[in-house]
Amino acid sequence: MQERAPNTKKLYIKTWGCQMNSYDSGRMADILRPLGYRAVDAPEGADMVILNTCHIREKATDKVFSDLGRLRPLKEQKEAEGGKMLVAVAGCVAQAEGDFILERAPYVDMVFGPQTYHELPEMVLKANGNERIVNTDFDGDNKFDKLPEEHLNSGVSAFLSIQEGCDKFCTYCVVPYTRGAEYSRDVRAIIDEARRLVDAGALEITVLGQNVNAFHGVGPDGSIWGLGQLLRALNEIDGLERLRYTTSHPGDMDDDLIAAHGELDKLQPFLHLPVQSGSNKILKAMNRKHTRDLYFDVIERLRKARPDLAFSSDFIVGFPGETEEDFEDTMDLVRRVGFASCYSFKFSARPGTPAANMQNLVHESIATERLARLQGLLNEQQIAFNKKCVGLTLPVLLDRKGKKPGQLVGRSPFNQSVFVEAPDRLMNTIAQIQISEGFENSLTGSVVTGETESRAAS
Ligand code: 5AD
Ligand code: SF4
Repeated sequence: MQERAPNTKKLYIKTWGCQMNSYDSGRMADILRPLGYRAVDAPEGADMVILNTCHIREKATDKVFSDLGRLRPLKEQKEAEGGKMLVAVAGCVAQAEGDFILERAPYVDMVFGPQTYHELPEMVLKANGNERIVNTDFDGDNKFDKLPEEHLNSGVSAFLSIQEGCDKFCTYCVVPYTRGAEYSRDVRAIIDEARRLVDAGALEITVLGQNVNAFHGVGPDGSIWGLGQLLRALNEIDGLERLRYTTSHPGDMDDDLIAAHGELDKLQPFLHLPVQSGSNKILKAMNRKHTRDLYFDVIERLRKARPDLAFSSDFIVGFPGETEEDFEDTMDLVRRVGFASCYSFKFSARPGTPAANMQNLVHESIATERLARLQGLLNEQQIAFNKKCVGLTLPVLLDRKGKKPGQLVGRSPFNQSVFVEAPDRLMNTIAQIQISEGFENSLTGSVVTGETESRAAS
């Protein structure tokens, strides 16, 4: 399509890390649009490049600097052609490293943290005037109120940030430092944004927060709403078909939220509920503020509310002081719960966090070996779960084209990727798919020819 704006500028954003970062990248593109920036798929020739970074585990900073190194010649080339490429580092590495990035990479124009991107137009103006910007404020401004209402390219499966930051201070985690104190948006603003996303074509909304089930937003009546109450209101939105939320803390799964899983038809039967370890001693050292028994109890109550609910989790192995017995407690927890899919990581000391100064480090080779054992078990469970779906007919939200011609890809209610041969007109719809095979990371199936199909054919 012909672009009408005469002074269209190319914006390339590279995103690392969590879904909150994906949401933020989309919102940065939205806020830069009135300034003439349009998103492109590659940094070559771009007028602005933003690296939206993640600091949660090791080597994040190194990766950013190696990416910056690759941008340098592109920036020089643009300048040689008489243009200008603004290079920006955003996200949690920007928050954590601040000035250091400008010192080490003199060709970087802007460094700004996750709480500041509503100030992007002003920052861009200054940077275009050759000022170098470092903005890592947590100034208490509500950035969400200052972002444009319109979402562009939010898609059929959209993210919506409802909560940011975290007050839990798990001893290994940088989030309370990079994202700041816990903050919940107002209910009215969230519901309005959800309606706009649905009007723009969203069939599925995933509400996001670093600690999403600690949500406590001001409701339209002035009272404080929890996540369960918010999900009930979102469930009422006409045209919305699916609701999800992530990421939750086991200690914040209250009765109302658990009950919502049994009551809300749009809430999908899949929950990411990180536990990190199965050992009470390690959970305590991690300052997780919950025990393994609390985790079992929450899982049991959730399964009672919604028997087909599938779980995923996050695990850290090799946390300082983890003995073989502690690790066996983790393996035991995994066996007892049974997960549909999981993420697992070796402990990585993050500078500035309490765990970075802990003694009793677990030797790298032991941590590697434990991670392999844990991942072996988790993979077995994931394959078993996927194979159990064979023969079922599942509603799949088809939102991507596959690599093979005529192939579409989407997500099942249990968040599995499903590959199917389907006509293009089923793109961006929820189609009934009969599952024929289950693999480690995906399912395949075929479209069930239902009413819609036969009507279309007649
Ligand atoms: N080391 C290893 N894994 C970590 N995570 C967070 N911080 C660390 C760390 N320092 C993992 C946790 C969290 C996920 C997003 O990343 O499992 O749930
Ligand atoms: Fe980090 Fe713990 Fe907060 Fe999760 S709950 S964001 S792991 S501090």
